[in-house]
Amino acid sequence: MPSADDIFLIGPMGSGKSSVARALARLMEKEAVDLDETIESHAGMTIADIFEGEGEAGFRHREHAALEAVCGRGRIIATGGGVILDPQNRALLASNGFCIWLDAPVAVLVARLESEHAHRPLLADADMTKRLTALDEVRRPLYAAQANLHMDTSAMDAEGVAKEIVAAL
Ligand code: S3P
Repeated sequence: MPSADDIFLIGPMGSGKSSVARALARLMEKEAVDLDETIESHAGMTIADIFEGEGEAGFRHREHAALEAVCGRGRIIATGGGVILDPQNRALLASNGFCIWLDAPVAVLVARLESEHAHRPLLADADMTKRLTALDEVRRPLYAAQANLHMDTSAMDAEGVAKEIVAAL
């Protein structure tokens, strides 16, 4: 993998993309970027407020603009779970770098997410197992098609996942 390539972490909510991005950035001496944080800072609003004011379509529009803005500088980018829904995003991921799919069974995601849904409006007021299972059915084939590397994160913390990634690259 050329060092100028971006490394994109893709996968569902709760798969550990943000914390693995930070751990991987330390190990690889690169910069980590969190796409959700970028969207919030560009918008001057939280993700929850964007969903509330502009709906999911407004959020997806902002997500695409943020992805375009952060690509192309050889960084480690933690994306949001839905980034792979947009064909234009998929093209950006494929042309700018390498995609690592962080995966875990729905039961593991539910356990990790139980304490925090603040920036996850798609989980608010929902049965988390049902919602994450429904998202998984739609998104799993998209993650699989996009991924250059697939990592099951269920038995490891972020540091462990980052070490496995470095060993696999
Ligand atoms: C979303 C995942 C969230 C955030 C937004 C939508 C999704 O990011 O982008 O709430 O569609 O799965 P994380 O995957 O970092 O939780």
